[in-house]
Amino acid sequence: MTNTDTGSMFLHPDRNLGMELVRATEAAAIRAVPFIGRGDKNAADGAAVDAMRKFLGTVNFDGVVVIGEGEKDHAPMLYNGEHVGNGRGPACDIAVDPIDGTSLTAAGRQNALSMIAVADQGTMYDPKAVFYMNKIVTGHEGRGVIDLRRPIGDNIRALAKAKNKEVSEMTIAVLDRPRHAQLIEEIRDAGAGTRLMLDGDVAGGINAALEETRIDMCVGVGGTPEGIITACALKAVGGFIQAQLRPRDDDERQRAIDAGHDLDRILEADDLVRSDNTYFVATGVTDGQLVGGVRKHGPVIHTESIVLRGKSGTIRRVSADHLAEKWL
Ligand code: FBP
Repeated sequence: MTNTDTGSMFLHPDRNLGMELVRATEAAAIRAVPFIGRGDKNAADGAAVDAMRKFLGTVNFDGVVVIGEGEKDHAPMLYNGEHVGNGRGPACDIAVDPIDGTSLTAAGRQNALSMIAVADQGTMYDPKAVFYMNKIVTGHEGRGVIDLRRPIGDNIRALAKAKNKEVSEMTIAVLDRPRHAQLIEEIRDAGAGTRLMLDGDVAGGINAALEETRIDMCVGVGGTPEGIITACALKAVGGFIQAQLRPRDDDERQRAIDAGHDLDRILEADDLVRSDNTYFVATGVTDGQLVGGVRKHGPVIHTESIVLRGKSGTIRRVSADHLAEKWL
């Protein structure tokens, strides 16, 4: 039997870095728990950042944070350019979002996640200078069918046809923001339903790409870092994404152009992350559709996570019990 017969993956099984990284998102989620519903999003984020940094330091890889968060609102951050990992192992780009949904956490609302995405070094899109992008995410059925430049109604009808569904059965996830008022109206005028999200468009995008969820499409303007993280996840689930940078004002537009960005360009998954060797891991902070949040049962803290690996196309759900006394 040759390599070609079986695929080299099976002859030379390599490690799944995601299974180690999940310890860092579990730790971040657990440490954020005391801040759920306490009204202080920076304190929640700070606790998650510290825990994530500490656990990343134990993982065998040589990571450089290319997408950190914090510049947006001066939140505590794993900063861009920071080296993470123990330096032994593969050189990687890493995108971190210790809590996607800091406001959700502070308010005690659902759908807050701790997440990490990793890809081969130098393969993640550099989002510098532009904070937002317009995105559309679907399952594999969207490929060759969806075009971000077309009216949303056309895209919904085309996807419904590809999925063999009625338009009235389609559910479209959108961040609930004033900037989306017209988009939301157009979705409803087309005959589809909306699933309005308070925050967290990475989970919205992954849910749109997964088979077993009620969401068919996730659309609208959200964070550029979140778009790149979503692309890393989609490599494992076979989903489809198109995105276009959306500067907030003339200054940002000019800075984007000076940084070499083509603002007309439609970016797809392979543009947002050039490697297929991607990992995406997320642990629920509060309950959500993708994973449940952290729970304490007597002496045990329970976490739920998802580990996606682009190279092998695997989706693993990791359910873990942690002895609470070890986390004092
Ligand atoms: P953070 O909690 O990390 O700040 O992000 C939450 C989030 O909803 C993202 O999921 C989304 O991409 C972005 O914020 C949207 O930005 P805005 O809140 O400015 O509309």
